[in-house]
Amino acid sequence: MKRLLTVALMLVVAYAAHAIKIIHGPYLQAVSDTEATIVWVTDVKALSWVEIAPDDGSNFYNVERPKFFESYLGKRPFKTVHAVRITGLQPGTTYRYGVASKEVLFQKHHRVHYGDVASTRVYSKGKEKYPKAFTTLNPQKEKCEFLVLNDIHSKQEKLSALLNLYTKDQTDMIFYNGDMVSIVHREDVLFEGFVDYSVTAFAKETPFYMVRGNHETRGYFAEKFLTYFPTTTNKPYYTFKHGPAFFIVLDGGEDKPDSNLEYYETAAYDAYRLEEAKWLKEVVESEECKNAKYRIVLIHMPPVGRMWHGPQHAGDCFLPILNEANITVMLSGHTHRYSYNTPETTKAKFPILVNSHSTALRANVGQDGINIDVIDMSGNTTHSHSFK
Ligand SMILES: [Fe+2]
Repeated sequence: MKRLLTVALMLVVAYAAHAIKIIHGPYLQAVSDTEATIVWVTDVKALSWVEIAPDDGSNFYNVERPKFFESYLGKRPFKTVHAVRITGLQPGTTYRYGVASKEVLFQKHHRVHYGDVASTRVYSKGKEKYPKAFTTLNPQKEKCEFLVLNDIHSKQEKLSALLNLYTKDQTDMIFYNGDMVSIVHREDVLFEGFVDYSVTAFAKETPFYMVRGNHETRGYFAEKFLTYFPTTTNKPYYTFKHGPAFFIVLDGGEDKPDSNLEYYETAAYDAYRLEEAKWLKEVVESEECKNAKYRIVLIHMPPVGRMWHGPQHAGDCFLPILNEANITVMLSGHTHRYSYNTPETTKAKFPILVNSHSTALRANVGQDGINIDVIDMSGNTTHSHSFK
């Protein structure tokens, strides 16, 4: 009996010694002019929330800050992957934030016992400045700058070299235009592949927008794509306006026919692209799209050259709609090679710029046009394009 009690006591001590930890993030997702979602992961299940404060120089602890939390059918969930949507924000406005997760120790019927709370700092310590802050999109902004990276396939040396182009003051956002990893067979693939590095480099303060590549459709965790990368539409295709540009992010799905043996009867991308095309038709008819100075489309697989089925079908579904929408430029990846495709060489009525796996696009969007530089891992500009 005594021995049993000793073992039980040791277990209690061991359990008490555990303190909940934030193991990934936080990082910004689905930032629009009025909303933002903050995502982070804890090592154990927790009840989570985000506190928001204006960027007014006040101490974060000056007053009680508004709290935001996830809820599903009115109930706050216990989770390890937390995605808290903050609503009711003002366009082009900076907000400071802190995240917190309270460990769930024990649940019996309706009763819950909580443990420690893990949180981000809301005051500076050492060199790193806290609390972190983000700025909502601003459709009225005169100009904007963004980076596009694609086909990184978890190669850290490429990611870190190309993200040297990021500057907090200049870069409004980063697009990851597909195939950031090769197969999503476990959660860590996403974090080890590109999310953790992004969090360190910029993603606590500047959002990245995911454009799903064909490789992100593969593996056990692929269907959890929106858990880690939520969007304003709850689909991997969405739009937003920032500065003079209206951005249309499309999901091309897989690259081979749905019946391909590699997919083991799990692919239904033809029907998916047709459904997406219906949504796209509504998008291009919206006033927000029509009235923008420029319309920029991002899709991982470009409808150019001798195509496999995926890009061919994506082109068949989307190009007839986009060709009537006065698109300024389409940005793609997938081929791992740079190419610039004029309307004379494709079925598109607009140019298609394909970025390679070892270069980034840096786009400056202004009132006089869009300038896009193709920049290699050493920081050299290899090509430049201008669009009116
Ligand atoms: Fe690809």
